[in-house]
Amino acid sequence: MAPSFKPVEPFDIVVFGGTGDLALRKLLPGLYHRDLDGQLEPQVRIFGAARGTLTREGYQKMVREALKQFVKEADLERAKVDAFIERLQFVRVDASGDAGWDDLRAALEEGTPNDIRVFYLAVGPGLFGTICKKLAEHDLRTPGTRIVIEKPLGTDFASAQAINDAVGEHFEEHQIFRIDHYLGKESVQNLVVLRFANRLFEPIWNATAIDHVQITVAEDLGAGERAGYYDQSGATRDMVQNHILQMLCLVAMEPPASLDADALRDEKLKVLRSLRPIVGDDVRSKTVRGQYRGGAIDGKPVPGYLEELNGHVSTTETFVVVKAEIENWRWNGVPFYLRTGKRLPSRHSEIVIQFKSVPHSIFGEATGGLTANRLVLRLQPNESVKLFMTIKDPGPGGLRLRDVPLNLSFAETFHIRYPDAYERLLMDVVRGNASLFMRKDEVAAAWRWIDPIRQGWEDFNMTPKLYAAGSWGPTDATALIARDGRNWYEDAI
Ligand code: BG6
Repeated sequence: MAPSFKPVEPFDIVVFGGTGDLALRKLLPGLYHRDLDGQLEPQVRIFGAARGTLTREGYQKMVREALKQFVKEADLERAKVDAFIERLQFVRVDASGDAGWDDLRAALEEGTPNDIRVFYLAVGPGLFGTICKKLAEHDLRTPGTRIVIEKPLGTDFASAQAINDAVGEHFEEHQIFRIDHYLGKESVQNLVVLRFANRLFEPIWNATAIDHVQITVAEDLGAGERAGYYDQSGATRDMVQNHILQMLCLVAMEPPASLDADALRDEKLKVLRSLRPIVGDDVRSKTVRGQYRGGAIDGKPVPGYLEELNGHVSTTETFVVVKAEIENWRWNGVPFYLRTGKRLPSRHSEIVIQFKSVPHSIFGEATGGLTANRLVLRLQPNESVKLFMTIKDPGPGGLRLRDVPLNLSFAETFHIRYPDAYERLLMDVVRGNASLFMRKDEVAAAWRWIDPIRQGWEDFNMTPKLYAAGSWGPTDATALIARDGRNWYEDAI
């Protein structure tokens, strides 16, 4: 049965960077989908704001094209698309100058303004503070205003604090929604449900039963057109500081008292603050940096990172492994191996909870030996939860053991469209529910842990090791985990 959705309270949303990639590829298609599912009341108004000269009709045409490109044809119902397009207005605003702000206020105040007003800053972080200041100066803030910002929230602790301060000067913390789109992914939310809605896991979710955890976000794409941004960032800032640490928090946190935003974020913060700092020689033994050179993916040749940068010399890492440790009772001695990279063999993200073996085996070698249980949460593609168990191989002829998964494949179990992460997050902004957004102290704590690692690379002159595009990263990545007597999960299948 198709799920039914409750409409959210009517709102006005202004998308700064309204003609940009994020707006056209994710935000507007996301809002369209919510409209299609009946979540947007007729009063909802959407304003694209950008520097370019564009008429309302021109903007509507642009968004119509974007929907054609980024929404599946089967979901493009003519009447619904027309109704959605009618919601759109365009205001020319110069984010760093004074032009357009009064026009924006006039447009918002025209007719019957909605109490909830969302400003989505789909622009570079350099403009976050400036836009917030202008919103204040031009009297665009209302009690129901929320502001949405997204990474990169700084490049280190100090610059993140500067952004938080600049935004915080004009908005209360409860009005600021810092998006980490991984938290909007179905499978990431499912992690919380799996842990706290099933009695089964909590008693064994600790160092007594768990040997280690692996979190992998592998991408087959390269830096490509984003190479300019990416080269300033690198895999650690781009993926580990935010998405991967957020997932680590959800795996490792204590049960929150409720799903209330602060209850949840307090627990995540405790995890971030319990991460053992990686400093000095540990930087060498607990981290690996890599950069792809040319290679092949799916049999097709692909260029190396430096070629994508047109030969520009760069020591930015496109691959990173970090062995993280959490200094508390629950996780004492349980490493969390974090790994992400571009131009790996496939797009594949998962969290692997590797349990310990049984303390004493009563089964001899001839039975095939025992494999320890493993819980694998596949985030993408093909979301699934697999719990690997050992069972008896059926049939006579002696006792043989076999490792098989209890397999919950979401695609096969639930025949629904999987919403994009932004759809859920946009509706949560309107609802004022900040559970899936990062609080400023979380962002700060994450940078505090990342900064010494990056400092160590500089101090030890640890430049990235090359790996062939289409491989699983430099051999050092295998060596790092092998030194602990373990292997990466894909080696095991
Ligand atoms: C973004 C990073 O936050 O996440 C990108 O900046 C990365 O470099 C992307 O490709 C991955 O997101 P997803 O949802 O495709 O896994």
